[in-house]
Amino acid sequence: MKKAEKRKIKITGTGFYAPDKVLTNFDLEKMVDTTDEWIISRTGIRERRVGSEDQATSDLAVEAAHITLKNAGLKVKDIDLIIVATSTPDTIFPSTACWVQSKLGADHIPAFDISAGCTGFIYGMILAEGLILSGINKRILLIGSEFLTKVTNWKDRNTCVLFGDAAGAVVLEESRDDSGMLSSYWKADGKLGDLLSLPGGGTRIPATAQMIAQDLHYLQMKGNEVFKHAVKRMGEAAIATLKKAGLEKEDIDYLIPHQANIRIIDATGRRLKLPPEKVYINIHKYGNVSVATIPIALHELNESGKLNDGTIIVMDAFGAGFTWAALTYRW
Ligand code: ACO
Repeated sequence: MKKAEKRKIKITGTGFYAPDKVLTNFDLEKMVDTTDEWIISRTGIRERRVGSEDQATSDLAVEAAHITLKNAGLKVKDIDLIIVATSTPDTIFPSTACWVQSKLGADHIPAFDISAGCTGFIYGMILAEGLILSGINKRILLIGSEFLTKVTNWKDRNTCVLFGDAAGAVVLEESRDDSGMLSSYWKADGKLGDLLSLPGGGTRIPATAQMIAQDLHYLQMKGNEVFKHAVKRMGEAAIATLKKAGLEKEDIDYLIPHQANIRIIDATGRRLKLPPEKVYINIHKYGNVSVATIPIALHELNESGKLNDGTIIVMDAFGAGFTWAALTYRW
């Protein structure tokens, strides 16, 4: 008897939103002691998008949600859960997902956030798989939305050149064919949390004038330490998810790595022995938009017509926590 195919979830819609305002490396040259040449050679970033004063993370998420639902040919009433992955919520509570639910006019469906740094989108996919395959939900809107420029210290050249604002989303439901998520792998190491964090404003260091004077309300990062861990863990995650799917490195058609730094992306591609054309890169356009990088890349690949039936994609991320995760997907 032929072994039954594992039940899978499938992406039935993709989309993203990035604010119109562009901040180039040349603009940054006027703000801090840096150069376009340094930023490109060390990070691969040429420009990033910046949301407006009156926007918050939920506003970017709602724009991405409308575009994604339209691309999927769906209405808000067709979804039964909203998950928002973010490290830059509108408010500590309520969740950004609840603000999104209200703005979408989605009546009474559950909505919650997940916080897993830049790995949040892949964590969200794994969570959605469990919810859909267990029968709890039928069609989930998963959004990765980030407003990093509001938590960036614009006087710190070590970090301010790296980040941008954007949201990407997918619609997920059970697959009825061969396509879908084949395997996944997720890990965390909280011992290393201090290497990349936003220390102030929570219950450890509540908001005070002193906390603000010390710049603890801004993202802080030991960049070169994060870099070393990211290279190691992204390679580990990609290889582990492929193995779980019963596939080899040569089976990968596209690697969609989290877009944090071109050198981390290149190192991960080399570890998987992939030619450059199989490694998707858009960091030059958006910078590091954390949880939004993978759904944006996925949508761009989808739009460009490069995803055919059977195309094998590995999505791979690393972020604050530390967290790292990857998944293998057959289009
Ligand atoms: N312009 C010019 N010089 C700079 C800049 C800048 N913008 N930033 C740092 N420098 C200088 C430093 O001051 C240092 O100078 P010094 O040698 O005189 O002290 C020199 O450049 C080298 O600094 P490093 O930090 O060692 O530079 P590195 O090559 O490591 O690049 C970077 C820094 C780009 C931050 C890199 O470490 C990196 O990308 N790290 C990983 C970031 C990441 O992966 N984040 C992932 C998750 S993000 C999330 O979860 C939200």
